[in-house]
Amino acid sequence: MSTPSLSPDAPVGIFDSGVGGLSVLRHIQAQLPHEHLLYVADSGFAPYGDKPEQVVIERVLGIAAFLVARGVKALVVACNTATVAAVRILRERYPAMPIVGVEPGLKPGAAGTRKGTVGVLATERTLAGEKFLLLRDQIVDATGARFLLQPCVGLADQIEFGEPGSPALEAMLERYIAPLLAQGADTLVLGCTHYPLVQASIERVIRRHTDEQITLIDTGEAVARQLARLLAAAGLLRPAGGAPAELTGFTSASGIALGAAFASLLGQKPPVHELALAATPTNPTGTHI
Ligand code: DGL
Repeated sequence: MSTPSLSPDAPVGIFDSGVGGLSVLRHIQAQLPHEHLLYVADSGFAPYGDKPEQVVIERVLGIAAFLVARGVKALVVACNTATVAAVRILRERYPAMPIVGVEPGLKPGAAGTRKGTVGVLATERTLAGEKFLLLRDQIVDATGARFLLQPCVGLADQIEFGEPGSPALEAMLERYIAPLLAQGADTLVLGCTHYPLVQASIERVIRRHTDEQITLIDTGEAVARQLARLLAAAGLLRPAGGAPAELTGFTSASGIALGAAFASLLGQKPPVHELALAATPTNPTGTHI
C-alpha cells in the first residue's frame, strides 16, 4: 500500500492494546520533545496476549490504517504482542514509513545477568511467537545465557483495568516472579509494555524474596532511541522552535479511562477521542468526547 509523502511536521503514531504503550511514549516524549504524537489504546480489545494471532494482526492493521489516514510520518508498535504477530506485515504494507516495534529485551538481559539466568515476563502470545523464539535461540547460542520464559496470564489485564498497587496485582506478580527468583534469575526482562507501569509493585515483590540486586530490563528507552535514529536518517525530525508539540489520545474503550491513565501515569491531560475501529481496516472514525 502506498504512503502519501511524509513531512517532518507530521505526527508520530504510537499504539498498544491499551495503556501499556504509555511506558514507551514517556521515553519518546523525553527524547523527542518536539514531535507531535498520536496515541491509540485499543483497550476495547485488550488484552491481545490471549487472542489468536490473526485477530491481533487484524487489529494492528486497522489501527495502522487509522493512523496513516491521520497523516502520521512514522509508527511505533508499543506492544510486544502486536510486534511479534504483525510488524513484518506492517512493514510490507507501508514500505516507505519508518516503523519501530518492541521486543522483549533478551539481548540486554543476557548482557546484564551476572549468574547467567534471565527471567522473561511476557504474554502467552509473545512467548509463543516464532520471531521471539528465533531471537531467543540466537542469543542463547551467542551468549550461553539461560532464559526462563514466564507467560503472565491476566497480568496486562490486571494492570489495564485493576487498581495500581492492589493486593490482587501483587498476588499475581508474586505467582509469576517467585519461581523465577527461586530458579536463580538475577535479571528480569519486562517483555510487555504494561509491566514497567507497575515497576514499584514488582520491586516490592522481589524484596520479599531476596536482598540480591535484581536487574529489570525495560526497552522503552531503546525504542525511543531507535525512533530518533530512523527519523533522523529519513530527514523527518521535527525541528525545535515551531508551535509546541501536541499529544492526542484515541481509545476503542472509555475516553474517561484513557484520560485518567494519561493523568496518573504521565501527569498530562491531552485531548482524548473515542474510536470506532472496524476489525478490518475499513472506514475508521473518531468521535470527540
Ligand atoms: N502491552 C502489551 C505487550 O507489550 C500487550 C498486552 C496484552 O494486551 O496482552 O505485549
